[in-house]
Amino acid sequence: ATEVIPTLGSKEAIFSFAQVVVDLEHGKDTVAFTEPGYPVYERGALFAGARALPLPLRENDGFLPDLDAIDDETWSRLAVLWVSYPNNPTCATAPLRFYERLAALAREHGFVVASDEAYTELWFEEPPTSALQLDDRTNMAVFNTLSKRSSMTGYRSGFVAGDPALIAALKAFRPTVGTAPQEFVQRASVVAWGDEAHVERTRALYGRKRALFLELCARKGIRVAGSEATMYLWLEVPAGESSEAFAERLLEHGILVAPGSYLGAAGEGYFRVALVPSEEECARAVAILEDVL
Ligand SMILES: Cc1ncc(COP(=O)(O)O)c(C=O)c1O
Repeated sequence: ATEVIPTLGSKEAIFSFAQVVVDLEHGKDTVAFTEPGYPVYERGALFAGARALPLPLRENDGFLPDLDAIDDETWSRLAVLWVSYPNNPTCATAPLRFYERLAALAREHGFVVASDEAYTELWFEEPPTSALQLDDRTNMAVFNTLSKRSSMTGYRSGFVAGDPALIAALKAFRPTVGTAPQEFVQRASVVAWGDEAHVERTRALYGRKRALFLELCARKGIRVAGSEATMYLWLEVPAGESSEAFAERLLEHGILVAPGSYLGAAGEGYFRVALVPSEEECARAVAILEDVL
């Protein structure tokens, strides 16, 4: 296989990717990533000695980064641009034309588009698009994992797929780091990727928990932002409170949510609900919030 390589889940591969594509000697010193977001893109950039460039995700833009705001100098210094849809934490999805534009920019300016698609199979109405749907995948690297789709986080199993030149670079780099996945995990992974019935059950379960919270939000006038896919909901903090103060208030009642601001400056004014406890626990949380909100 020239277009795919297995990884130990996706986190280690995401973290070390900047070490493979950043080229300080030739001026490719910048790693861009969206915020609020998963913190590993930035950490990987900083450990590789790169310049870390956060791109804010705003609701007005459908939680897509404003590519027109990036200047020519930044494009020329860009080694990799991270995107992740369905997005953690905004739960927004991206249309195929967004990936088409990114791919065209990547070819024009010589950078890599790294698409972290950890949540691509946790959807509710229609399956989200993937960067792998592009006809021309030059400069594209897609990261996926069994952690969310199959709830197999502890197996540490994922893959990178895309441009053969990037996969070849990973094949050269990864033996040095010692990140070849165990054969018995690979055998289990083949079974997990080959079975869709358990994924459908997982989607249905998240769908039921999601419905509980969406009904609560409708009753309480909590505005739902983004929230098209993933195991999260991205909700607006009630007027007059900061994300942090609101999360602290809920914590006093035993409800743990992520303040949007903890995931990046553009997350202020929102909070993230993770639909990971059991259905019974989610129902209990909704009952508590019924009184608290
Ligand atoms: C956006 C995103 N990408 C990647 C991961 C990594 O998951 P894993 O390393 O278990 O594959 C996570 C986990 O929370 C995530 O939220």
